[in-house]
Amino acid sequence: SKALQVAIDGPASAGKSTVAKLVAQQFKYIYCDTGAMYRAITLAALQEKVALTDDKAVTKIAQNTTITFKPGDPVQQVFIGTQEVTQAIREPQITNNVSTVAAIEAVRTEMVEQQRVIASRGGIVMDGRDIGTTVLPDAQVKIFLVASAHERAVRRYRENIKKGINTPLSRLQEEIEIRDKKDSTRAISPLKQADDAVLLDTTSLSIDEVVKKISTIIMKIQ
Ligand code: C5P
Repeated sequence: SKALQVAIDGPASAGKSTVAKLVAQQFKYIYCDTGAMYRAITLAALQEKVALTDDKAVTKIAQNTTITFKPGDPVQQVFIGTQEVTQAIREPQITNNVSTVAAIEAVRTEMVEQQRVIASRGGIVMDGRDIGTTVLPDAQVKIFLVASAHERAVRRYRENIKKGINTPLSRLQEEIEIRDKKDSTRAISPLKQADDAVLLDTTSLSIDEVVKKISTIIMKIQ
């Protein structure tokens, strides 16, 4: 069997990371969460009190920040240098600012370069917004995962309740829609289904059903 590159893209909260992680586990592939990388740069910029609209300063941070992943269950840990930031990069302040940082061209150039190195030997499941279109245009498997904004907000709402966070459902849906709009309308590598990607609407599918569909596609060409 070949060590493939599997690209999973789609809008916010479509279940990409949950599914990508399970698929990676099943095939003993590496899992790379590229959203976590943009989130880490956003956190580093805020920690260094850099204005997120200062493209040059944010780019410098992107170039000088070492982001690493440490495999773990149930979550993969994320580090900036030696600082563990797994939880910190999920805070609302990061979620609601990350799209500004991700729209900076030179930041993307730096991230894409790092992502290609991580994926270069194959045996990887990488999730994000531009993996199939830009980062790994030759990936053998490309999935575009979607679900209605309402369903995505409901999923996020349920996760939040488990964590003791009580943001109203309507506000979650609004935040998701704002982020999708920013991500799909930016000039550089906007969120877009690659021509050769398989569209998977997960609105009425369980996590297991989605994982099974992707696994079947991988096994066919592996
Ligand atoms: O996947 P996640 O929702 O954690 O991604 C956070 C943000 O990072 C996205 O809303 C988007 O602005 C940016 N992103 C991106 N390209 C990727 C992955 C994430 O622009 N490949």
